[in-house]
Amino acid sequence: MNVLIIGSGGREHCIYWKILQSPLLEEIYVYPGNGGILEEHIVKENLFLDFFKKLIQFVEDKKIDLVIVGPEQPLVDGIANVLQNHCLVFGPTKEAAIIEGSKSWARDFMNQNKIPSAKYKVFTNSKEAIHFLEEIHPPYVIKADGLAAGKGVTVTSERSLAIQAIQDILDKKIFGQSGSKILIEEFLEGQEASVFAFCDGNQAVLMQPARDYKRAYDQNTGPNTGGMGSVSPVEYINEELMNQIQKEIFDKVMNGFKKLGISYKGLLYAGLMIKDGKAKIVEFNCRFGDPETQVLLPLLQDDLLELCFQSAIGRISKTHLTFKKASSLGVVLAAKGYPQDYKKNINLTEFLNNVPENLYIFHAGTKYDSQSREFYSTGGRILNIVSLGNSIEENRFKIYDFLEKNPIENTFYRKDIGILY
Ligand code: AMP
Ligand code: GLY
Repeated sequence: MNVLIIGSGGREHCIYWKILQSPLLEEIYVYPGNGGILEEHIVKENLFLDFFKKLIQFVEDKKIDLVIVGPEQPLVDGIANVLQNHCLVFGPTKEAAIIEGSKSWARDFMNQNKIPSAKYKVFTNSKEAIHFLEEIHPPYVIKADGLAAGKGVTVTSERSLAIQAIQDILDKKIFGQSGSKILIEEFLEGQEASVFAFCDGNQAVLMQPARDYKRAYDQNTGPNTGGMGSVSPVEYINEELMNQIQKEIFDKVMNGFKKLGISYKGLLYAGLMIKDGKAKIVEFNCRFGDPETQVLLPLLQDDLLELCFQSAIGRISKTHLTFKKASSLGVVLAAKGYPQDYKKNINLTEFLNNVPENLYIFHAGTKYDSQSREFYSTGGRILNIVSLGNSIEENRFKIYDFLEKNPIENTFYRKDIGILY
């Protein structure tokens, strides 16, 4: 099979690494890719302007059988709709990707299908939204309706900050059209987890859960980020709870879409809050999570390419996936300042040369300069350092020992990944 992966993060490097292991693979291409992808596999053509038209041309020229879409934006924009007459696509159509693209749509869908989630109210007028704050108790959860690169959610106990978030989104339009509506949600208490499922329009086949560390700094402080580290498995999710998550959440989503005449094919990500042995939905995403993917795929024993292919044709042959019986932990190395302004062009070559064989490195915001043969940072999240071992402690030791002995100026990382709060 000839495969094209769309995206440039740690998630896409990890998907690429896993797909390379498949006996079904013939040719592989990544667009736009990063410094972790072999140069010969990176799409050289610039598809940026008039992306969909150029993409179709590329798919035809290279006889691509399957396109695997990493990020949400192209899915919400309809990349699967555009490509479906030309090749197979792993990723939902825009009619299905709306589950991530509009939080108010998703909440209505959850209500209609009795999927456990937070109570909420939608506002388009900032005065009415601010007035509503008087009727509810803090902490306040304010969300922009549309995609906002992970920055559209404010969780705060301070009324003034909640008011500011409402005004920023609805009046100042800091997220543009994505902020034409806001949701004010009930605050859910508990512990978070991410569960991913491969979906083929009929069934959802679950991966084991992962835990993401979203805040920038230790002890879950600082601003929300895309994710600063991850672990799998998750100690507070047992088999009984996984059965509940399958039946009460994923099966209901699949049925809900069917009732709408929509076939959900691709990955479905449930962001969960767990309390008293029960799971509620914080959000759905229409793609793999980053950095959870980077700890899950090294554990997955099934063929990822086969799963993506079967999902895209609408017929997954398995009901259960197999994972190595190991602990997996990943730490994100980020540029100082992330998730706000950060420094770029940090030289990573020496660090990368020193990585021991018992650690995996998945590149995120990096590039390789073939003339100087040096690696440089290009993004806020730079590298994922992942370890598989017998325990969280063993993984933490291996990763943090390496990071402490190989410091890179102008970068930082959380020192508490794996610790349970
Ligand atoms: P989201 O982008 O919707 O996943 O929100 C980002 C983060 O904000 C989540 O991972 C949670 O940590 C937090 N969050 C979002 N919604 C809620 C909620 N209703 N209750 C508590 N925390 C929330
Ligand atoms: N790690 C959170 C996300 O991918 O949305």
